[in-house]
Amino acid sequence: MKKIYFLLLAFTVFWGFAGFAQKQTAIYPKEVWPDSDGNHIQAHGGGIIKIKKTYYWYGEQRRQGLDSNYRYVSCYASKDLINWEFKGDAFKSTKPDTAIKGHRWVLERPKVYYNSKTKKYVMYMHLDGGIRGSKNPYAYDFARVGVAISDKPTGPFNYVKSFRPLGKESRDIGQFIDDDGSAYLIFESRPDKGFYIASLSEDYLNVEKEVAFIKSPLEGGAIVHYENKYYAVGSALTGWNPNPNKVATAPSLSGPWSEFVDIAPAETKTYGSQSTMFVKVVGKKATTVIFLGDVWKPRTQWDSRYLWMPVEIGEGKLWLPEPKPWTIDVKSGRWNYLNK
Ligand code: DGJ
Repeated sequence: MKKIYFLLLAFTVFWGFAGFAQKQTAIYPKEVWPDSDGNHIQAHGGGIIKIKKTYYWYGEQRRQGLDSNYRYVSCYASKDLINWEFKGDAFKSTKPDTAIKGHRWVLERPKVYYNSKTKKYVMYMHLDGGIRGSKNPYAYDFARVGVAISDKPTGPFNYVKSFRPLGKESRDIGQFIDDDGSAYLIFESRPDKGFYIASLSEDYLNVEKEVAFIKSPLEGGAIVHYENKYYAVGSALTGWNPNPNKVATAPSLSGPWSEFVDIAPAETKTYGSQSTMFVKVVGKKATTVIFLGDVWKPRTQWDSRYLWMPVEIGEGKLWLPEPKPWTIDVKSGRWNYLNK
């Protein structure tokens, strides 16, 4: 009997320590980022929303061993932006539209909005693939958004439909929620050589009105509202390869938008990352704006990393500092480097 008690105690202490060891205190840009189970976080091209005190991070699920007939959107939850618990694949689907030919279809850059009127969670995603008449099966000429809906932040999300927002070809999408809660979709439109910022319908199931069109061939569109300015960041059209991401500013979302300038030394190619969104942490003592970038590994996508860094921002300037491990206290809103 004593032996059993001893074993039980040893087991509890071991798991206590194991759990403790998994608790992280910092964000390490470009490193493997373990979730609370110790697995590298799979939420690429992602989006984040905050519901009460919990952040939900959705993204492309690209772990090894997935069923190749499906595409998946993962969901992680965190209260501190550093430690993330995997909540499962919130959305999973076989090819949602017969107009896409073959198996080489993609679901990219999922974003979830919470609609407080309908109490539904609405997911937008970029759906693409070669369609009839495409020159190659990898062609991204479906160019639509897909919409799925759920009662809970963690899903399951049910597919509703796909469409071209404002009737336009739409590839990379971005999410922007303004300080007053209004929800916008950012989408890149290749034929128009630029990206749109458009407001959503009351139920969020449609893209309703063009708010701005920024004529600059950029994707990975991300926007933040800081003090009295809007900042829009985007990446050049270089596929999975990094390039110098750029920022433009405007006094209001509808513009007028300034010229685009680099957000980091051009030769670093955004330190090897590509913009996906901003998270603004408004704490009791400070406001921190975090740049969320993807560090893609096209041949080993499951190993793609994240470059999250607080930016220097204000008075029309936005600059991404050299990535180094850092930490944040979401209550105060303050951040600092791990090793000063
Ligand atoms: C760049 C985009 O930003 C990614 O989301 C993905 O679509 C790749 N291009 C595909 O080449």
